[in-house]
Amino acid sequence: MRIGILTSGGDCPGLNAVIRGAVLKGDRVYGHEFVGFRWGWKGVVEGDLMELPRHRVRGLSKEGGTILGSSRTNPYEAGGGPENIQKVLDKNGIDAIIAIGGEGTLAAARRLSDDGLKIVGVPKTIDNDLQATDYTFGFDTAVGIATEAIDRLRTTAESHQRCMVVEVMGRYVGWIALHAGMAGGAHAILIPEVSTTIEQICEWVESVRDRGRAPVIVVSEGFHLPTMDGAHSHKGLDPFGRPLLGGIADILAPMIEERTGIESRATVIGHIQRGGAPSAFDRVLATRFGMAAVDAVTEARWGTMVALRGTDVVDVSITEATRSLNSVPRRRWEEAALLFG
Ligand code: F6P
Repeated sequence: MRIGILTSGGDCPGLNAVIRGAVLKGDRVYGHEFVGFRWGWKGVVEGDLMELPRHRVRGLSKEGGTILGSSRTNPYEAGGGPENIQKVLDKNGIDAIIAIGGEGTLAAARRLSDDGLKIVGVPKTIDNDLQATDYTFGFDTAVGIATEAIDRLRTTAESHQRCMVVEVMGRYVGWIALHAGMAGGAHAILIPEVSTTIEQICEWVESVRDRGRAPVIVVSEGFHLPTMDGAHSHKGLDPFGRPLLGGIADILAPMIEERTGIESRATVIGHIQRGGAPSAFDRVLATRFGMAAVDAVTEARWGTMVALRGTDVVDVSITEATRSLNSVPRRRWEEAALLFG
């Protein structure tokens, strides 16, 4: 078979390891050939391809980013309905697609699969917000980077008796904040799933200060106070008149300082969480996902997505995986909250 691979959506440490795992197993065990679509679905719609011989993927498991490039192009919006895509596949002799991506990518893959295309999905997101898999690769790396940042911020906070508010990624769910906050011993963790007032946050901050310590608060970028609208649009407008989004740490730090009198600083870790080499855990998971995706293609299990269940890699329907987001259960936050303040 000749198999096309694409990486789509925000990039994620481990994408290259998936590509390597798929190509090496596919070539060695099944004798398949591989091509990569450039820039996600855009490359599928436009027929922008690169050959992926075995030697091209050697040594890739430790490389961050994606050798194929990525974009947030939706194939249906880019004029690439199923018939057009099938034409591109036929023209290039491609039998099937492995689509590596998050919720948006997989939703498009599910639709294309329902429309008759031969597709297998691989879940990807640092946010860990996909249902049907215990973990996605990229999450462990992001948590490691955020934890290191928290550890570093703690020592400078202690030197100056300041409160540090650390914003981590997680647009809709708070998994990175929860795990990095627990690993870094944060004095409070604020996530989109759990409503928390500024009064409660300041109580935790003051109790840490009263013990003579410097408070460290970890906040997920998707968190907002009950008194805010979801877009934080009260921050004002950018020079082009668009509402300024995000920056919840920049909003909280001055509020905490004003209410508690404790000097406060905001840090937004941002895309550093997505860059650079994947952790060992993510390299292994991504490699296993790549190899399992090739098995699914070989056995014509179309419309499925590889997933981690316990320690096993299995496959599930893409429909199941994209039904809803994998939010942090309240009990997981409450468990962490026992140690806040
Ligand atoms: O979905 C992954 C993610 O990293 C989110 O945590 C974050 O909100 C978003 O992507 C950032 O997207 P972009 O790179 O397009 O700014």
